[in-house]
Formats: sequence, structure tokens, C-alpha cells
Amino acid sequence: MTTPIDWDELTRRAFEVRERAHAPYSHYHVGAALMVASGRVFVGCNVENASYGLSLCAERSAILQMVAAGEKDPIGIVVITRGPIVGTPCGACRQVLAEFALDMPIRLAVEDPAVPARMTSLSALLPEAFRAEALK
Ligand code: THU
Repeated sequence: MTTPIDWDELTRRAFEVRERAHAPYSHYHVGAALMVASGRVFVGCNVENASYGLSLCAERSAILQMVAAGEKDPIGIVVITRGPIVGTPCGACRQVLAEFALDMPIRLAVEDPAVPARMTSLSALLPEAFRAEALK
């Protein structure tokens, strides 16, 4: 039986961690919360650096937390960005998500409740991802 994804809880956790984003350069705060098959939730925020190129996105930050906790099976992720445009995960984050999930629902939202949240999926955002099979 697959764990049902509690989108409200994931959204709440993504908003919560977004408060801790370190984004003094872009002022673009991002929060991400993902659920794994066991039901555990991992969160991440973007962490920027004075050496700009070293900045880490929220989605990859959440994936790092997941792997460090011994989990490798994400089943859904919520990403909260600044509005008014609903941001989608960057290319690097799509690829890192694709390391751990062939496909997965993705909920995208902003802090403004007047802007509707969007549902998409990893396969829609990154069709034909480069995956481990190719290395065989
Ligand atoms: N950012 C994320 O955290 N996730 C994304 O998918 C897109 C971009 C962050 C990186 C940087 O700290 C800021 O947003 C502006 O690019």
C-alpha cells in the first residue's frame, strides 16, 4: 500500500522552512518539503553564498536531508517561491530529483493566497531524464 501524500502538511512545512531561507543576495526565498514512502517528511530552503555560484536550492537541500537520514524514496514534493509567478524547480534540481524518483507529483505555490497553486510532475518537467540505467 502506498502512503497517501498529505499535501496540506507538506505545504505547511514548506512555508515554515522557507522562513529560514538564507537569500540575502537574491531575496528570493524558497522552501521545499518532500514526503518519502515511509511517510517521513524532509524539508529544505535555499542557502546562498557571497560566492554566488555556491548557492544551494531548496529542493536539493531537502534531498540532501532525505539521503542523510537514510531515505531514498521521495513520493511527492511541495515547493514554495515568491510570487506573483509560481516558480518551477531549476534544471539542476529536476535532475537531482530524477536520481531518486522516476516520476513524482510536484505542488508549486507562492505566499499570495490569491495566486493558485499548481500541480505538475517530475516527468512533465524533465522528460527523458538521464538516469543510472544509462551507465549500465
Ligand atoms: N532557487 C531554489 O531554491 N530553487 C529553484 O528551483 C530555483 C532557484 C533559489 C536559488 C537562489 O538562491 C534563488 O532561488 C534565486 O535563484
